[in-house]
Amino acid sequence: MVRFLVKLMSLEIIQKELGYTRHVISECLRCFKPTREKTQKTFAEELSSSFNQKQKSINPKFFYDQKGSYLFKKICTLPEYYISRTEAGLLKQLDKKLPQYLNGNFRLVELGSGSSTKTRILIDILEKSQKHIEYFPIDISNILTESCKELQNDYKNLHITGIIDDYESALELIKNYDNMKNLIVFLGSSFGNYDSNIGLQFLQKINSLMKNDDLFLIGLDLVKDETVLEHAYNDSQGITAQFNLNVLSRINSELGANFDVNKFVHYSVYNKKQSRIEMYLRSLEKQIVNIPKADLVLEVKKDELIHTENSFKFTISQIKEMSAMSNFQIQDIWCDEKRYFGLILLSKNN
Ligand code: AVJ
Repeated sequence: MVRFLVKLMSLEIIQKELGYTRHVISECLRCFKPTREKTQKTFAEELSSSFNQKQKSINPKFFYDQKGSYLFKKICTLPEYYISRTEAGLLKQLDKKLPQYLNGNFRLVELGSGSSTKTRILIDILEKSQKHIEYFPIDISNILTESCKELQNDYKNLHITGIIDDYESALELIKNYDNMKNLIVFLGSSFGNYDSNIGLQFLQKINSLMKNDDLFLIGLDLVKDETVLEHAYNDSQGITAQFNLNVLSRINSELGANFDVNKFVHYSVYNKKQSRIEMYLRSLEKQIVNIPKADLVLEVKKDELIHTENSFKFTISQIKEMSAMSNFQIQDIWCDEKRYFGLILLSKNN
């Protein structure tokens, strides 16, 4: 009876004070949504500011509409795109290496609802020492997808609680939610999309939102031979090109624009000095594009480049430096034999 009361109270606190509403989908599947609409910039607003800069750009977060997510999954299976495969291989080996860092029960918190293959590998590891597993995927949208239902079917002892919000607000909620320890994971080198200063701020923020015994596992792509990198972002089947160009189709369908996708080509290059892959859409001719819902008339020169993504690559010494600067202690670094990719386990520097 007492336990029942405590539970009810905490739910009420979550709703009233932390500003989330809980939706129960089934006994093992729930989600939290912010009660109030957030005052976030819309797609149209973001584009009208990024298209008005001297270097026109589109934020890479806009790649992932339905078609874009489908194309990204396809990229992950390409022979040239070593990232997903290498990371999955490393995660599988963690079954012998991670448990020594897990004292007691941990909840799995994933930034980005990710690919369920990698989630499964981690759940399998946790399952060895825990009867009951809680999985909290965090994403701004499309969290409780088919893959969640499949996970639910395959793991009877799994409780999924999606949080539909930005990473920082969601981690704030988790910090105040209860005192269970969290294993927070941010995989696939998604961190590579952030410019250095933003990335550092992000790590500092994560650190401040962690409880003392929480762990943070981050997957980072490493600096390597340029040709390997350039092939990974310019595959022979042209899937990366489709993925890049798809963002223009998305602007067409969501904002009523008239981009002619055939008048742009995919271009990617490794910027060695900045150690990052840069992706662009290059205009094949001088053209004018209307984007009515963003109230924009875009003039594009022949050969002008629209920037669509940076994908930073890291060295081990940079990783050590970033960790120190964000008050993290490195518990372990796991790399594959070719040193293409790294999984870094961090704890708070208490
Ligand atoms: C999802 C950001 C990690 O940078 O490798 C793949 C996205 N872009 N191919 C990456 C991407 C082109 C990917 N991340």
